[in-house]
Amino acid sequence: MSGEGSSSLVLLLSGPNLNLLGEREPDIYGTSTLADHVQTAASTADRYGLQVEHHQSNSEGVLVDHVHAARGRTAAIVINPGALSHYGWSLHDALAAFDGPVIELHLSNPDSREPWRRTSVVAPVSTGCISGFGGDGYRLAIEAVAQLLGRS
Ligand code: DQA
Repeated sequence: MSGEGSSSLVLLLSGPNLNLLGEREPDIYGTSTLADHVQTAASTADRYGLQVEHHQSNSEGVLVDHVHAARGRTAAIVINPGALSHYGWSLHDALAAFDGPVIELHLSNPDSREPWRRTSVVAPVSTGCISGFGGDGYRLAIEAVAQLLGRS
């Protein structure tokens, strides 16, 4: 239902602890805030005639509800699930029920960090993953969405 071309809306979802960006482990995640990254995504989207709707939550169920609400309404989802990337199976199942491109996004490169970060339960239901490029990943993720939606 939420197929490509049906909407110019992109859902940007941020998982647990991302509200602390700017203060949280700046050596790993940088000094930019989540609001800075949302602005990067929104201004990139604007270049392609897309709009970004952003939600952050520390609760898996709230994120699941946002994915459900995106069905039939938004063209694509960009999601940085935080640590839920590694064990959030209900998020996996919700994304599996979304009919449109899903971009998994990480500021850091989880594959180069602790072993428990090397599994992503979101990867099997994602179109692709952008990780390790810091805040620039938000621009890259929206550009990937624009490409996938045939807008670039
Ligand atoms: C993260 C990587 C995750 O492993 C971690 O739990 C986060 C942030 C990232 O953006 O690099 O919270 O998703």
